[in-house]
Amino acid sequence: MKQSELIENNDKYLAQTYNQLPIVLDGGKGMIAYDLDGNEYLDFTAGIAVNIFGYGDEGYIDAIEKVLKKGMVHCSNIYYNKGELEVAEKLTKISGMEQAFFCNSGAEANEAALKLARKYGKFSGGRTHVISMKDSFHGRTFGSLSTTGQKKYQKNFYPLMGNVSYATFNDLESVSSIVNEETCAIIVEPLQGEGGIVPAEKEFLQGLRDLCDEHDMILIFDEVQCGMGRCGTPLLYQTYGVTPDVVTLAKAIAGGIPCGAMLTKGKANSILVKGDHASTFGGNMVAMAASSYILDKMDEKFLNHVKHEGEYLFEKLSKLKDKYPALISEVRGKGLMLGLQMNESPADIIKKCFDKKFLILGAGTNVIRFVPPLIITDGDIDTGIAILDQVLSEMSK
Ligand SMILES: Cc1ncc(COP(=O)(O)O)c(C=O)c1O
Repeated sequence: MKQSELIENNDKYLAQTYNQLPIVLDGGKGMIAYDLDGNEYLDFTAGIAVNIFGYGDEGYIDAIEKVLKKGMVHCSNIYYNKGELEVAEKLTKISGMEQAFFCNSGAEANEAALKLARKYGKFSGGRTHVISMKDSFHGRTFGSLSTTGQKKYQKNFYPLMGNVSYATFNDLESVSSIVNEETCAIIVEPLQGEGGIVPAEKEFLQGLRDLCDEHDMILIFDEVQCGMGRCGTPLLYQTYGVTPDVVTLAKAIAGGIPCGAMLTKGKANSILVKGDHASTFGGNMVAMAASSYILDKMDEKFLNHVKHEGEYLFEKLSKLKDKYPALISEVRGKGLMLGLQMNESPADIIKKCFDKKFLILGAGTNVIRFVPPLIITDGDIDTGIAILDQVLSEMSK
């Protein structure tokens, strides 16, 4: 079937919840994604920060194949599962956290964290109030949506989970002023992604840690997008030197096989006990094999590569900002999670790059987001930046 016919059928048979570009992606190699008509795209999106090893990584495919060949794709959590234990051990080692709970997505990882926080609050004074940030994004399920501080995602779905307040990101006073005797948790992305690639300041995260210690609250870091090596350390909070009680992960954790995780430490360990929470597919064998492979590859050399490429991309984007001051006002982000703050909607720029077979994303208000596979090289960055430069030059005429 031709690509155009598939797209027509897609519109007929699938719920229309996505704004989609008119190609059907079907395979890839390295940084290049292929569509059904054989076109090749340089991909700086990685399936929205998921495909960290790009496409066709042989070790990754072998790891998945190996588990499939054993004949058991899924094992219920009513039995023990070797892969789950292995990944939990590796994750806690690289993160400094202590226990893991596995699920299937970022939203679910945040649901687990919110349930943990509510239970912690219940047994420490009956507290239920949760503080989240404006412009945050934590997912689309009711709990995670309730803590997503953006009206546009919430407006059609009230009533949401109760007793959630939204503070201003990077403004400690706005958080401390709404902490009350009912507050049990603060949830925050150390680097806001969907909200427009906005990194937290160190003093802000440290201030949240201090507030949580002072008032015996649970500090949750949502690293669903910014974690798993994307910013040059296994977890982003490690660069800040501020440790949460709970961290949530998904997206790149298994490189594309659906998987999410909640990691806990100290007072957050063992709050959820037998019967409190579960997920049929949590710790799925294929997801665990994929994740185990990814964690083995995330060594110092790989993370140094991410840091180098992040700095290189940042430098190239900064040069574009200097060249097109009427279009670009700021370059932001960390590692390979970078954003260009544009003065107007970048929708046309993203579409024109797409027409030139270069895939990039939008975020927040007028931001172009770059979350490429972490295997990116200087050469890939030069190629992508040259295309973007050409598009910006056409736009500024
Ligand atoms: C920071 C953050 N948290 C949570 C989510 C939700 O993840 P999922 O789409 O896997 O439910 C996302 C997705 O973009 C995210 O960026």
